[in-house]
Amino acid sequence: MDVVRTAVSVLGARDAEASDSSPEADLRKSVRLFAALPAAIAYDQRRRWGGDPIEPREDLDYSRNFLWMTFGEEPDEVVARAFDVSMILYAEHSFNASTFTARVITSTLSDLYSAVVGAIGALKGPLHGGANEAVLHIFDEIGSAENVSAWLDTALAEKRKIMGFGHRVYKRGDSRVPTMKAALDTLVAHYDRPDVAALYDALESEFVARKGIYPNLDYPSGPAYSLIGFDTLTFTPLFVAARVVGWTSHIMEQQASNALIRPLSAYNGP
Ligand code: COA
Repeated sequence: MDVVRTAVSVLGARDAEASDSSPEADLRKSVRLFAALPAAIAYDQRRRWGGDPIEPREDLDYSRNFLWMTFGEEPDEVVARAFDVSMILYAEHSFNASTFTARVITSTLSDLYSAVVGAIGALKGPLHGGANEAVLHIFDEIGSAENVSAWLDTALAEKRKIMGFGHRVYKRGDSRVPTMKAALDTLVAHYDRPDVAALYDALESEFVARKGIYPNLDYPSGPAYSLIGFDTLTFTPLFVAARVVGWTSHIMEQQASNALIRPLSAYNGP
C-alpha cells in the first residue's frame, strides 16, 4: 500500500494536467490512473519476487492483462473470471471511509491525485480495505478447520476483532459475499484445495453461530487472491486498482456540485 500510494503521488507530480479540475481533464486523469495502477501493482509484486516488469499486452482484457503482467503467463478462464468478479465487486461502494476521504479532500478544491492518495491511506487500515490481508493472517494462524473452535475461544476471550466479519451498513450479511464466495468455490475446485474451503466454512459457521456477525467481501476475496498466487501484501493494492473507479467517480461528482465538507464535533467532558 505504501508503494501504490507513492506511485499515485508520483503520477500526479508528473502529470501536466494535475491541477486542471475540469470534468474533461478529471475524466482523462481517472482513466489514466485506472490503466496505470495494474502495472504499478504487478511490477511491485514481481519486484518483491526478484523479477523484472512484464510489458502489458494490447490483445488481453483488463483482468487477463493484469494477471499476465503479474505472473508472466495467460491465466486459465476460471482464474480470469474469478479475478474479474472480485474487481467488479470492489469497484464502488458508496460513502465508505476511503470514498468519504476522497470527497473531503476534493471539497477543498484540491486535485484528483491528492484525493486518491488520501483515499488509499484510508483504505489501508484493517477496519477497511486492509481486512482482506488480515483474513489471510488469521487463516495462517488457525492452520486448518479442526483448530477453529479452540482458536476462536482464545481470540474472543482476548476481545480480538475477527477480520473479514462485520460491516457498518450490512448487519445481516454483505450482499456481495454470495457472488464472491461462488467465485472462490470455482478457484477451490480449480486448484484442488478443499482444505481452504473447509477452513473458510468452519470459521464462518462457528463465528456466525457464536456472535451473529456475518462475513463481508474481504472474507472470500482474501483466500481467492491467495489461491491465484498473489502475496498477501498485494491484496489491498488489488482493492485500490478496482476502487479507483468509485473514488474518481465520486471526486468528479463532488467537483460538479461542491460545498466544503467541514463537520463540527460535539465536546463531551469537563
Ligand atoms: N469481530 C469481533 N467482534 C466484532 C466484529 C468482528 N469482526 N465486528 C463487530 N464486532 C462486535 C464489536 O466488538 C461490538 O461488540 P460490543 O458491543 O460487545 O462492544 C459489536 O460487534 C458492534 O461492533 P461495532 O464495532 O460497533 O460495529 P461497527 O458496525 O461499528 O463495525 C466494523 C463495523 C467493520 C468496523 C467491524 O465489524 C470490524 O471491525 N470488522 C472487522 C474488520 C473488517 O472486516 N473490516 C472490513 C469491513 S468491509
